[in-house]
Amino acid sequence: MQKGEMLYEGKAKKIYRTGEPGVYLVEYKDDATAFNGLKKGTISGKGELNNKISAHFFRLLEHRGIATHFLEQVGDREMLVRALEIIPVEVVVRNIAAGSLAKRLGLAEGTALPRPVVEYYYKSDELGDPLINDDHIAVLELASAEEMNVIRKMALVVNEILREYLSERNLELVDFKLEFGRSDGEILLGDEISPDTCRFWDAQTKEKLDKDRFRRDLGGVEEAYQEVWRRLVG
Ligand code: C5P
Repeated sequence: MQKGEMLYEGKAKKIYRTGEPGVYLVEYKDDATAFNGLKKGTISGKGELNNKISAHFFRLLEHRGIATHFLEQVGDREMLVRALEIIPVEVVVRNIAAGSLAKRLGLAEGTALPRPVVEYYYKSDELGDPLINDDHIAVLELASAEEMNVIRKMALVVNEILREYLSERNLELVDFKLEFGRSDGEILLGDEISPDTCRFWDAQTKEKLDKDRFRRDLGGVEEAYQEVWRRLVG
């Protein structure tokens, strides 16, 4: 598949047109940023690992009936996806208090939540991705109420599928972020599912095996991403 014009370069990925209308190529980069771009770095091997890990999760979810943008993995750091009209809402699902939730609600990190918590953030670098609710989404006309209904349901099903799959591999799914988009009137799961966008803890030791190793300068970032991959395919 030919790599055409670059349409977009984000913090961790580049998107290219391909020879086929409606199909884009995603290239995963080794670059890492945190705190809305304030912290920058490179994690060697990250692009390849995130491509493989995301492709693996998208295949699993497709197999379990979730409609995603994923088409096929075409290179070490590249995958083909369906072109989406991205809905500018980051959907976060949480099972265990960590990160911004622990801070906002004054919960100790690691507190199990009695039920999953779904949150929405407005994708806006200028505003620093503020937390929003259904009313804000309606007022800003980011998505219809029907679309948000579908998105919330899909996010909770994705949570159940991933949580069970990871727990069989001795990993706890603490929280994760999803993005959705429209394609031919259908809502598809887009973006990526990787240690950049999820918190994975070892189920016994609670060792962090995700981007928090980079955010919090814990070291062993690449090794942690590799360990996640090893457990997925091992
Ligand atoms: O920082 P916070 O605790 O709100 O993050 C919740 C989850 O969403 C984490 O798994 C984090 O990796 C992910 N996230 C993301 N992209 C963002 C914000 C959060 O992937 N811009």
